[in-house]
Formats: sequence, C-alpha cells, structure tokens
Amino acid sequence: MRLTLLWLVLLAWAYLVSPSEATTPLQVLPDNIFILAGQSNMAGRGGVTHKMRDGTIPLECQPSPSILRLNADLAWEVAHEPLHADIDVNRTCGVGPGLAFANAVLDKEPGFGVVGLVPCAIGGTRIRDWARGSRLYNELVRRAETAREVDGGRIRAILWYQGESDTVSREDAELYKQRLEKFISNLRADLQSPTLLIFQVALASGQGRYIEQVREAQLGINLPNVITIDAKGLPLQPDGLHLTAEGAGSEERNEEGAKEIKEETVDFRSPAGHENEPPKREKVEVIHRTDEDEDPGILAHAAATARNAIRCARHADASSKIGNSGK
Ligand SMILES: *[C@@H]1O[C@H](CO)[C@@H](O)[C@H](O)[C@H]1NC(C)=O
Repeated sequence: MRLTLLWLVLLAWAYLVSPSEATTPLQVLPDNIFILAGQSNMAGRGGVTHKMRDGTIPLECQPSPSILRLNADLAWEVAHEPLHADIDVNRTCGVGPGLAFANAVLDKEPGFGVVGLVPCAIGGTRIRDWARGSRLYNELVRRAETAREVDGGRIRAILWYQGESDTVSREDAELYKQRLEKFISNLRADLQSPTLLIFQVALASGQGRYIEQVREAQLGINLPNVITIDAKGLPLQPDGLHLTAEGAGSEERNEEGAKEIKEETVDFRSPAGHENEPPKREKVEVIHRTDEDEDPGILAHAAATARNAIRCARHADASSKIGNSGK
C-alpha cells in the first residue's frame, strides 16, 4: 500500500514537471544493447515452482531507470522481471540472468550509459531451432536490428544460454559444436557485426544424458570473441534443470585479503571412472578466490559481470586464480 502511494506520488510529480512529455513516458533510450537469447535458463525460471511464480526477485534483479527492455511490441520500457514474460509466452517465466547482468555492469561502470536488454529466449528450444531462416532466428535478428535502429544504440554483446534440449539425442549433442559455430557466424554476418561479442554459458544441467558432450562442444568452441561462462555447480531447482533465483553465495575476504565467494550448490557429476553413467546429484561447496581485478576495460568487466550474474562456479579465463575446494 505504501509502495503504491509512493508510485502515485512519483507519477503525479513526473506529470507535473514535464506535462508535454506525458505521452512519451520514456525519455531515455539505450546506448548499449545486449541481446538475451537461448532457452529456459536465459528466459528465466528462477522463483517458479509448479508453473507458479513465487514473486522472488533478488536485490540484484531490481529495476533501474537506466535499464530498459525491448518488449514484444518493439517498444522500449523500463525493464523488470520477468524479462521474458511477453516473449516466452507459453511458459511461466521467472527470474533470469538479464537484469542481474545489467545491474552489475552499471555497478562497475556507472558512466556506461543506459542499457537496453533485448529478450529473445524461448524455453525448450534446440540449437537447430535457431538455425538461419528459422522463426526464432529471424525474430532474433529482427529484434536486434530494431533495437539498434530505433535510437542508434550499439549492440555490445549477445548473452546466449542454450543447449539443455540438445542433451537428449546423441546426434544433437554430436552436432552441437558445428551448429553453434554456424549460428554465431551467421548471426554476426546478418547483423553486420563480424566481431560481435558472445557470452555463452556452458551448461549446468540438461534434459538428457549427453550433458558432458554438449559442455565439451561449448567449452571447445573455436571462434574469436566468444567468452564462455561455466554454470556448472550453480544451484538448481528440484527439477534438476533450472537455475534458482538465489545462490549468489557469500562474499568474504580471506587472510590474504583476496575475495572469496562460497556457494552451497548441487552439482551433477559422474564419478571418475563412471563417466558413462548418468551424473549423480552431489552437494558441494564451491569456493572461488578472485584477486582484485586490474582494469581490463569495459567489456572485460562485462565478462566478469556476466560470470557473476550467472553465478558461475569456475572461472573461464586461465589468468584468474581458481581455488576449488571440490566437495
Ligand atoms: C505458443 O504456442 C502457440 C500454439 O501452440 C504457438 O503457435 C506459438 O508459436 C507459441 N509461441 C512461442 C513463443 O513459443
């Protein structure tokens, strides 16, 4: 109730100070565009149980006037969870990584400008559903181009989290690397952005038994400007497939002053020597140590940020020091 009142006051105030702009409530347009694509864990299932949203919205996913989203009608609006509600329409959408990512980028780079998120992810889709010429692919290109055209903002990166549905058939898993590379090169060509940065997430889970094969394909991808964020070890929902809305881990300093992030997580692993058996659920505590970053520039920051936003359990770049306590 108090919140509603506050909103009304703010709204009234906004109308009073700028009556001429009353019909165009958005006075900012994005400078930096990020495309969100893939399947359910990008569309967001955090805080959804039995197809019901529980309303959980972590602090880092709160809306900000500097973070917009391109809605299904191709108009910019202030972004709020669930980011994909009008895009992945046949499923119940919850919290995904998009807003956490944008908030973290702005946290690190306050002068970055307004962020525009372009949600395009659809649950249950395989990589071949995203092949050039498919409905999903065309929609992705159309939304990305509209986002860029409307205001001249720049597409900074694509956040891609997909592959769970490609773990079901051996053929899909075997062809994954080839299909993913083709998808990325087609997309770069069609967006006339040959060096477009891709943040892809290596799977934490999957619907089938070929998770390791798809992960290998993702980790072995051989294209420039693709940054892989490993989601393995992140907290999963009881379905064993979808990431939860929480699980940021607790951040502490150790005796040497290095930052340590501890996470209680559930991991899916095949024990050594039993790689052919279905992975078992294990409770593990993952600790990563990070030294204070030097300033590697905005996009490197964004990479670090994406990593945190998706709560990865391991560092993708070899330059970071990793402390992994295993079980
Ligand atoms: C939702 O379901 C309808 C009916 O099956 C289908 O035509 C439509 O393409 C689906 N939309 C998405 C975004 O999956």
